[in-house]
Amino acid sequence: MMYSRIVGTGSYLPERILSNHDLEGMVDTSHEWIFTRTGIIERHIADESELASDLALQASRRAIESAGIGADEIDLVIVATTTPDMLFPSTAALLQSKLGIKNNCPAFDVQAVCTGFIYALSTADCYLRSGKYRHALVVGTEVLSRIIDWTDRSTCVLFGDGAGAVILKPSVSPGILSCHLHADGSYNPILAAPGRVCNGQIQGSPFVSMNGNAVFKVAVNVLEQVAEEAMLANKMSPSDIDWLVPHQANIRIIEATAKKLSLNMDRVVVTVDRHGNTSAASIPLALDQAAREGRFREGETLLLEGVGGGITWGAVLLKW
Ligand code: UT7
Repeated sequence: MMYSRIVGTGSYLPERILSNHDLEGMVDTSHEWIFTRTGIIERHIADESELASDLALQASRRAIESAGIGADEIDLVIVATTTPDMLFPSTAALLQSKLGIKNNCPAFDVQAVCTGFIYALSTADCYLRSGKYRHALVVGTEVLSRIIDWTDRSTCVLFGDGAGAVILKPSVSPGILSCHLHADGSYNPILAAPGRVCNGQIQGSPFVSMNGNAVFKVAVNVLEQVAEEAMLANKMSPSDIDWLVPHQANIRIIEATAKKLSLNMDRVVVTVDRHGNTSAASIPLALDQAAREGRFREGETLLLEGVGGGITWGAVLLKW
């Protein structure tokens, strides 16, 4: 039996920090409202010159360094992003070039919004287990600040920019135990950035619009379902899970999931307070932060899970 295993992590956050107090001067909101409803205190915002591939580059370099490999040893590049540099080429192809990888390895983007990293990790896992590739670079990177309407208080307080990356390798010992991906496209109206480019113009709003209440309810339900599905597939119960590394959208959603899993919050990786919701970047950012703090021990069981626009949702159960 062949598995794939995370052998390196990296992340990058833009320097500029936007606090809740800063937002009080921009829209009719308060630190109190944002913190009690979401758990967010601050988020990072990219410079105008920084693109998703630039953030990805920094995170990838750190992941490559922590894996102890050379960039040219990477033979598969998958980038999850909702905010690509351009319509095409893919951000993955641009990242491959910026990393100086000259081996013509495949590079492609995955778009599953906030579940993007889970989808990308699952895709890489399939390729590596089949024995086709030796080192996959899997990245979640976002400059969500570009598609936020900074006059809309119901969305602008929620999101931030950043990138996280992992290096995945085939391994005879686990590794990723199982991946569980889902989508229900009929929910598309409750979370979308509907604008499209047509004849040189943007048709429809290019900004994130969200029915927060509706997304909240769906999120809590599907995250519980997919956690149960992942545990059942591996004949595990909540007591077998050492760490929950959830998508970081709202502390209330994270706490609800932890409660349903009977997991103490000190076994849950939380970064939403400092990062806000960084969509596809949130899980690899949280993973890297906790890994660098030395929180995970070898052999521990981690449950990664996310939900986002689509609606898409999914989970990855793995041994560290
Ligand atoms: O990453 C993809 C997945 N996304 C999510 O999981 C997000 C899920 N949803 C949420 O996290 C929450 O629904 C929100 C944080 C977006 C909103 O929290 P809520 O408790 O559902 O608040 P609400 O939308 O019901 O709004 C309550 C009130 C409204 O005022 P009224 O109608 O009660 O007078 C809003 O107008 O809060 C008002 N409000 C604000 N007030 C101050 C909305 N945004 C703000 C704001 N500051 N920024």
